[in-house]
Amino acid sequence: IYGEKRLNSRGVNLNIRSHYDPLMRAMKQCMDTTYEARPLLAFDVATDPALVHDVTCPYDRRKTVGSVLWTSKEQAERAVDAAWAAFPRWDATPVADRAAILRRFAELMEEHMPELMALCSREGGKLLTDGVDEIREAVDFCRYYAAKAEELFGEPIQLPGPTGESNELVMSGKGVFAAISPWNFPVAIFCGQMVATAVAGNTVLAKPAEQTSIIAHRVVELLYQAGMPRDVVQLLPGDGPTVGSVLTGDPRITGVVFTGGTDTAQVINRSLANRENAPLPTLVAETGGMNAMIVDSTALPEQVVNDVIHSAFQSAGQRCSALRVLYLQDDVADRVIEILKGAMAELHVGDPRDLGTDVGPVIDEEARKGLQAHIDKLKGEGRLIAETRLDATHTADGTFIAPTAFQIDGIEALEREQFGPILHIVRYKSQELDDVIDSINARGYGLTFGVHSRNESFAEEIARRIRVGNVYVNRDIIGAVVGVQPFGGQGFSGTGPKAGGPHYLLRFATEKTVTINT
Ligand code: SER
Repeated sequence: IYGEKRLNSRGVNLNIRSHYDPLMRAMKQCMDTTYEARPLLAFDVATDPALVHDVTCPYDRRKTVGSVLWTSKEQAERAVDAAWAAFPRWDATPVADRAAILRRFAELMEEHMPELMALCSREGGKLLTDGVDEIREAVDFCRYYAAKAEELFGEPIQLPGPTGESNELVMSGKGVFAAISPWNFPVAIFCGQMVATAVAGNTVLAKPAEQTSIIAHRVVELLYQAGMPRDVVQLLPGDGPTVGSVLTGDPRITGVVFTGGTDTAQVINRSLANRENAPLPTLVAETGGMNAMIVDSTALPEQVVNDVIHSAFQSAGQRCSALRVLYLQDDVADRVIEILKGAMAELHVGDPRDLGTDVGPVIDEEARKGLQAHIDKLKGEGRLIAETRLDATHTADGTFIAPTAFQIDGIEALEREQFGPILHIVRYKSQELDDVIDSINARGYGLTFGVHSRNESFAEEIARRIRVGNVYVNRDIIGAVVGVQPFGGQGFSGTGPKAGGPHYLLRFATEKTVTINT
């Protein structure tokens, strides 16, 4: 199961060990570097020691990666001034020049892959394989959006009109965007947001997750090296109450692109709505999921388990696409659970830099505590089905959670998304299928969903009825590829736009018609 892995949009399957040897050597050289991240703004900032925070490794809290200087409220306000002033010039810059910066940036990220992978592990707790996927995805976003921008923002579209009248449709940027990104894809989603908004002609204020500011700092340094002007994209490390609220409260912010929790998206939405004298904003949000998979009696149990293990436990379950609720039809449930228990017993939890590790740490102590409380509660109710053993020699000093599977009665029993390696299993009888689909739709999340069945019309019927952004049939439900499975959900899972899809840039664009009476 774990010897091979899909690596990128080119669909290449490579043997991990042979592919990683040279990367591993290059990466080792970056493992001991100490980083000092700071705001990267259109102006210089002095270091205020009260705003310097140490950054530790999730797999070993005794080790530090470096420190990060957070952005002050005054600096955030000045950064908005600079972004506002830079917008007209940047929007008037030919799209070919903007796209060229993205392509150079993609090349630079490829060149710096070992360093970025090392940082993804050290600061984000990511497996090396996940680090490769992540950087490839960021590179794919740059090239994909560069090409789409040239199509959309190049020549105006000529529209019909009566004799003596010309009509043109012209696309341009909207203004200043705040890009608020999560720690679970500190390169891919962070870059995807920045480059999509910027290539469409907007200026960008990027606030990375507090947990992964060092990676963000390194990535923006590469973006500047690629030619991005410093007043067009600025980096504002810091927390939501300080930096986030300056951005979402400023009437000059035209829109926010956000990936993270549903609760935070609602806070952002309210903050944007409460501004006085502000134009109506754009909110592009990709939020949580309560992703389900339905398995019927015709499915192949071995394949189901393989896909469930990937979907629920890869990246320690810290993907918004991850599987949370597995519905097993009664006839096949015992067999699937038996194989699943065997597969979970073989998972190795530990240091993400070790190629033998299947599941790394969760991001921090707060996340670990929340997940552990959920595990303790369900264990107390006698619902445990299977649990991977944690070996203290590999996990004692980090924030680890053992992959765990529980039996529950239905998706409605879950109050909130559990963002970690916890799988919930529901058994259903074939005559209950309609109720199962209705309850998944009624729960209101709509990000990813899976079906396992060899009955094609059954799978198609379910795929049609389920209200989510990404449906996967007879495969795992994670790892959407740019330009292949545009990613984004509906309901509590987001406002709908699909990152890595053909329409994404339109969300950051203004359309203007120009009619000339000749
Ligand atoms: N895009 C990621 C995936 O598909 C989740 O954020 O797994």
